[in-house]
Amino acid sequence: MDQKNKKQIIIFGAVIALLIVIIAVVFIVASLPQKGENGGNAPFDLALTFGDDPRTQKNFSWFTKAECEAVVEYYISDAEPGSAFDQSRAASSIGFTDAFETNCPKEGEENSASGKLEQVTLYRHGVYVDGLEPGATYLYRVGDGKNWSASHTFTTAPEGTLADTGGFSFIIVADTQGFVKSDYEFWAAAFRKASEQCEAPAFMVHLGDFTENQDNALLWESYFTLASGLADLTTVPVAGNKDDEVFLDYFLLGTQGGVTGLNGYYSFDYMNVHFSVLNTGDGSKDLSKSQIKWLTKDLSSDSARGAAHRIVLIHKAPYSDRNHADDSEITEIRAQLLPLFEEYGVDVVLEGHDHYYFRSEPATGGGLVKVDYSTSVKTIDGEEVTAFKLSGEDGENGSGVFYFMPGASGVKQHNKGFRDMPEILTAVSELMSGPTFCICDVEENGIYFRTYCVDRYRNAVALVEGWGIEK
Ligand SMILES: [Fe+2]
Repeated sequence: MDQKNKKQIIIFGAVIALLIVIIAVVFIVASLPQKGENGGNAPFDLALTFGDDPRTQKNFSWFTKAECEAVVEYYISDAEPGSAFDQSRAASSIGFTDAFETNCPKEGEENSASGKLEQVTLYRHGVYVDGLEPGATYLYRVGDGKNWSASHTFTTAPEGTLADTGGFSFIIVADTQGFVKSDYEFWAAAFRKASEQCEAPAFMVHLGDFTENQDNALLWESYFTLASGLADLTTVPVAGNKDDEVFLDYFLLGTQGGVTGLNGYYSFDYMNVHFSVLNTGDGSKDLSKSQIKWLTKDLSSDSARGAAHRIVLIHKAPYSDRNHADDSEITEIRAQLLPLFEEYGVDVVLEGHDHYYFRSEPATGGGLVKVDYSTSVKTIDGEEVTAFKLSGEDGENGSGVFYFMPGASGVKQHNKGFRDMPEILTAVSELMSGPTFCICDVEENGIYFRTYCVDRYRNAVALVEGWGIEK
């Protein structure tokens, strides 16, 4: 073999070797798990919230462990959650992604209340969807454009008033907080029973304190994942004292570029019912001047004044007779809010924070004067409900405000703490033996509440009280 042939064979061999190396590299890279295939892009802690207009807007937020895009796909469908998703029918909206610094338990400390936490970076995603059809049910999924959640459903508020539609129902829960993952089984049981009891809730109000430690991502994950079906129901979140710093990270409020809800207080109209949502964590003790200014403007707005009913949602109960009732901050909040509620004809204030069942008499005069009423009995879904009709000075809306705490929906039930406060006009004050939930039925001429306590071990519920306001 001459030198020339030798050289050609060496070059040929080198080219073949190089090709083998290139093919091997390509094969290895292709066989490596792609971003997301190992679960890094899998969505979790998925929350649905209203935009400014519940008829046409919906907000989506979720987390992933890896950085990726935020996409929602959706189309009108009567398919069940979990059904095959037909991408060819879907519209899509793209949102934003932010790095989110939080903590998770160190390995081996997952179920210890005093366990050590370590820092972890998650990615938070948010998408605002606009232009939806009112009164429709959609099938949707969220993801990065390639990796998707299971399919879920959401509904939009219908056009029209309570008189046009016959009204709506919603679920009320509060204080689901637990110290460790297994605590959230109590919340999961309450949510399961609420879903069984309320066939088609328009949304779910959560009166705050979702978790015991807002900086522990595992507790949030437990809240979202143990309660099956949360991703198919819009949450109306209220900031609790346990979550007021990350509240806006876990729930996307307002609309793109808007300012609604950015301070954790906001309002919305569902049909012709006005809801005002307060944030008791926005000041060092009492509520900030700007929140009081906002509430005054909100309650005097055309939509509030023209509403059939006005409902306020708040975490720290301004009016109750146990635990926190005589805290100095509560006394201050009471003095700030009650005159406004009375002046603007608020019907009922839904409260949390004290972890028991409380209903006031209808009160006016700064909460000191009981308003007279007549009662009748109404039957809703086979349950007897006592309806109170106020004989107030200002006619159809009456002049009294009811303060109502339907109990805590998690593991933590307070078992003492009655405060001797004769100025509080208590109608019912009861400690609960298990997690509670409440179903609210809203009609043109009334608002009715049925609260249930869950017996987890017997898989049963017992009615605590059925009551309502009739106009
Ligand atoms: Fe609280």
